[in-house]
Parts: sequence; C-alpha cells; structure tokens
Amino acid sequence: MLAKITVVGAGNVGATLAQRLAEKQLAAEVSMVDIIPGLPEGKALDMWESGPIEGFDTKVSGSTDFSLLKGSDIVVVTSGVPRQPGQSRSDLLGVNAKIIKDVAGKVRDLAPNAVVVMVTNPLDVMAHLALKTTGFPKGRLVGMAGILDTARYRTFIHEATGVSMKDITAFVLGGHGDSMVPLPSYTQVAGRPLAEVLTADKVEALVKRTRDGGAEIVKLLQKGSAYYAPSAAVAEMVDAIAKDRKRILPCSAYLDGEYGMSGVYLGVPVVLGRAGVERVVELKLHPQELEALRRSGAEVAKDIEELRRQGFES
Ligand code: NAI
Repeated sequence: MLAKITVVGAGNVGATLAQRLAEKQLAAEVSMVDIIPGLPEGKALDMWESGPIEGFDTKVSGSTDFSLLKGSDIVVVTSGVPRQPGQSRSDLLGVNAKIIKDVAGKVRDLAPNAVVVMVTNPLDVMAHLALKTTGFPKGRLVGMAGILDTARYRTFIHEATGVSMKDITAFVLGGHGDSMVPLPSYTQVAGRPLAEVLTADKVEALVKRTRDGGAEIVKLLQKGSAYYAPSAAVAEMVDAIAKDRKRILPCSAYLDGEYGMSGVYLGVPVVLGRAGVERVVELKLHPQELEALRRSGAEVAKDIEELRRQGFES
C-alpha cells in the first residue's frame, strides 16, 4: 500500500475525492491541504471518524500547512475556482493560473517524486502550466477529464438504450472543453457498434449533450460545478496508479509527436500505472475524428498562448 496521497484543495471535488480514497484504502494516509483555516482540518477529522463505520484504517489528515505534502506518493491538485453559470472553462484561466503556479512550486519542492493528477480547470492548460513549473518528467503529471467526459457519454447512452452502464464502452478524447471529441467508432453497446443501436441523429444529440455535460450541471446547481462524477473519475485514476494496474484510460497527457501533435496536453488514451503515464496509445482514427482531435489540440494551444501573454509561462 502507498504511504500517502495528498489532495490540494479541500473543496467540493477535493473533499469528495479524499473520502472516496480513504474508503478504498488506497494509501495509509490521505491528506488534504487548503488555504481556508479550519476547513481541511475539520473535513479531515469528520471523514476519519467515518472510518469505524465504513471499515477503513486509512488515516485522514488536513492542514493549511503545505508541509503536509511531504512524503506524498501521489498528489491530486483540485485547488482553484470552479465555473459559474454562463462561464466557459477558459474564463477561469487567469485566476486559476496564479493558484496553480503557486501550488505546483510547492509540489516540486515538497513532493519531488510524486505522481501528480491535475483537476483544476481549464484542465489541459493548467496541466501544461504545472508541468512547466514543476519540471517533472511528462509522464509524472497527468490530467483528469476524459474519464469524466466518457462517463457522462456512457450515462446518456445507457439512458437511450436501457443497456447496463457496465456493458457500454466508449472513449471521449480531445480537450476538456467545447472541443472534446467523442468517438462513435470506439463506442460499443454490449459489443455492438453504437451506429447499429441508435440512429445517427440520436448519436449526434448524445454527443452534443456530452459536450455540454459540465455546463448542464453548472446551470442546475447555480453555484459551483460538478463534483460527484469528477471525484469518482479521479479516484479511478488514483487506483490505477496506486495499484500499478496499467489500465488504458482516456486522460490528459503531454503529447510529444503522438497523433501528429507536440507540446500540448490533450485527452488521449494512455497506459496508467505506478509511474504515471507509461505510454500514449495511438488509436486508428477516422480522418474526421483525427481532424477533430487536432482542432481540439489547436484550441488548447491557443489557451497556452494566452497563458504566455499573461506572463505565466516564459
Ligand atoms: P471548490 O471551490 O469547491 O474548491 C476549491 C478549493 O480550492 C477551495 O476550498 C479553495 O479554498 C481551495 N484553494 C484555492 N486556492 C488554493 C491554494 N492556493 N492552495 C490550496 N487550496 C486552494 O471547487 P471544486 O468544485 O472543488 O472545483 C475545483 C476545481 O476543479 C475547479 O477549477 C473546477 O473547475 C475543476 N474541476 C475540473 C474537472 C475536470 O474534469 N478536470 C471537473 C470538476 C471540477
């Protein structure tokens, strides 16, 4: 078992994730760090006290002191502002870049050997900034988005077909934003291609709802954004890393020539194990899917340019 997993940001995503990680006993200690005095301490104690009922021995700790990062095998970064109704993820760029630059510097200094999972939006750009700030090898810093987007897509396909969610396999690639790329050619309902099960119009409607999946929840909540499915998606990644499962999961990874792109984080299938991203898997895509993926990469590159313009990355 790992010694320690630290979650930076004890808000909606971070705290829900910490509880999931403790219940799964993925490390001897799960800790949370936040800047609001009392918040990480209070939530951690509350979670720890659920141990006797849930039957876990994992210690849960929390602090505003970032030295809690020391000794972490995995660090998950959720610190930052979530979207409000009407905002796009890119609208969060300036405010969250400041937070991520600061947090990534602390991770570099205090947890130099950790595998880092980024969650803060705009996801692909914040992962890029964190990689540059930490100077970590590209495989040791990975972003969560594709598992969540895929889970939303699978939920909507389940709703439309009545087939168990367990028997629906799919991949959603690309940037975590309006340019995400659901792949109908890699979507199967109990082994049957999606195109045999639903009409093209219906598939198109599901793809659109998936693309707008985050905004749909932001609009309903009116304050803050989704966190139950996002924290479940991060927990799946942490499980794959902690247990060295070598799972193939859609994650935001740094591309170095794969799919014809370089120098950009983008949602692609990766082999995820104890070392982080062990390999990017290059699927054979239809020309129009590859084109959509490249367009998505160009959108992320535009945001990275904006990051540079604002002086965050030299
Ligand atoms: P939240 O507002 O509930 O929690 C964020 C927490 O970060 C707050 O407790 C805040 O005090 C803390 N924080 C702010 N600055 C900090 C710093 N410098 N150091 C440590 N902690 C700091 O927000 P929520 O809902 O948990 O979302 C967090 C982020 O995750 C947002 O940027 C959101 O857009 C993103 N997100 C990304 C998803 C993805 O698919 N990648 C899915 C869901 C959320």
